[in-house]
Amino acid sequence: MRRRIIIDCDPGQDDAIGLFLAFASRDELDLLGVTTVAGNVPLALTQQNARQMCDIANVRDVPVFAGCDRPLRRALLTAEHVHGRTGIDGVDVIDPLTPLNDQHAVDFIIESLRQYDAVTLVPTGPMTNIATVIQREPALLPSIERIVLMGGAMREGGNYSPSAEFNVLVDPDAADIVFSCGRPITAFGLDVTHKVLSTRERVARIRGIGNAVSDATAGMLSFFQRHDSKKYGADGAPLHDPCTVAWLLKPELFKTKPVNVSVETDSELTIGHTAVDFWHVTSRPVNVDWAYDVDADGFYELLFDRLARFGGET
Ligand code: BDR
Ligand code: CA
Repeated sequence: MRRRIIIDCDPGQDDAIGLFLAFASRDELDLLGVTTVAGNVPLALTQQNARQMCDIANVRDVPVFAGCDRPLRRALLTAEHVHGRTGIDGVDVIDPLTPLNDQHAVDFIIESLRQYDAVTLVPTGPMTNIATVIQREPALLPSIERIVLMGGAMREGGNYSPSAEFNVLVDPDAADIVFSCGRPITAFGLDVTHKVLSTRERVARIRGIGNAVSDATAGMLSFFQRHDSKKYGADGAPLHDPCTVAWLLKPELFKTKPVNVSVETDSELTIGHTAVDFWHVTSRPVNVDWAYDVDADGFYELLFDRLARFGGET
């Protein structure tokens, strides 16, 4: 049976490419819906961007929802300096045909967990929607089969503060609720996403596929890598969020280790830090399968293959 998933995202170029990977893989993944949250850019844009990705991929049967427009207890931080003013700079923003569903994202996730006893949640933005679901309906936790998230960092330090990765930093209270919810979690933090670089050669190969989705992907990556290549001194930007979907499709591309991950929610200096007990030096319980290595070439082969499914020259 296909795994039922809900992608909860804040597009964001890399979120958008994660959506494309899932849209191309519906023979393997039963995508119940796309829920959006405020993060890289405000909610009004993240929900619109998700709908635009449905348009580009010509996906007409996946509902898109808007969720929380701010973190649980803090003011929203955004990342236009990385993603551009729209969040998806690199493609021309249009008014999408794909409608926004009236239902709140949190209500949709709750309804899905009531309807099905095994749903995998795939958060690739701040975890505000997911934490709100957990807070409101803890009795539905057993219906969460797994949470496959992009967030946190251990060896790589932070990308938005010295100690914290963006998704966790934006809503550390939500991340804390999610990481300690007791359901199985697979987490893709910067330790692994920083190895999945969209080099010029890889972007050229994507551009060569020659369909609307690969063109949009190449356009977004070309924008995205300007900022990150300079910041990290690397050829290409990390393609963070699609790691979640890639793992669902080909878990053998990644190495993971069961560890405890705890989130700093108080310290002014290190707020949003994920304390990853990689060497089991505490007695804190294991709560996460932490991804620490990836076959980057294998990841990109998967992406090339799936983008070509939308039609085109190769
Ligand atoms: C995460 O933050 C956002 O900028 C990206 O979309 C990704 O989800 C990486 O830290
Ligand atoms: Ca994201």
